[in-house]
Amino acid sequence: AVYPILAAVAAYLLGSLSFAVIVTRVMGLSDPRTYGSKNPGATNVLRSGSKAAAIVTLLLDAMKGWLPVALVMWFGQPYGLDDGTVAMVGLAAFLGHLWPVFFRFEGGKGVATALGVLLGISVWLGLATAATWLIIAFFFRYSSLASLVAAAFAPVYYLLVDGVVWYAEGTIAGSIIVMAMLLAWRHKENIQRLIEGKESRLGSKKAKPN
Ligand code: G3P
Repeated sequence: AVYPILAAVAAYLLGSLSFAVIVTRVMGLSDPRTYGSKNPGATNVLRSGSKAAAIVTLLLDAMKGWLPVALVMWFGQPYGLDDGTVAMVGLAAFLGHLWPVFFRFEGGKGVATALGVLLGISVWLGLATAATWLIIAFFFRYSSLASLVAAAFAPVYYLLVDGVVWYAEGTIAGSIIVMAMLLAWRHKENIQRLIEGKESRLGSKKAKPN
């Protein structure tokens, strides 16, 4: 059973590519770890003023969650890679984003990568979670709040949509729950700022320093 381990290691390495840092570096923008929330993620890249850089970061950070899951689901069976491996590679990519081996283990909060993983597991699961994020972001204009609410709903959507309609896969449900819990924990400073009314809103002109 060496293939599941190889797949998980590859997914972790891919997840370790902190695209907020890479994309801003390539585009000649300042490092997102130096301003705003200091988080290497699409939301904070947006605070640099470059929508293009934020969108590319979002897409690439989501892609690195989606790709390993999709590859295992499409091509894994002949190698004995089952749903347990799907759950494992998704979680591994997410853990890579949070603790990237290439960036001194200082990564982001995992929102885009988790969304990519969910899209890989099931398009409807990903779309439902993304829609939840968009609705909360639209009405409240806090990226972090939208991420927290979407993360809370993701396991529910999985159990409702995929679990009841098709099948309940325990390991995948487990990895979605673990991702949601880690994601919430990585937002502890955002939660504090939300409570204090100090969180910076999406589209606000100036990045709030901490
Ligand atoms: O993508 C993470 C988001 O939920 C919050 O980001 O930069 O506001 O801490 P940030």
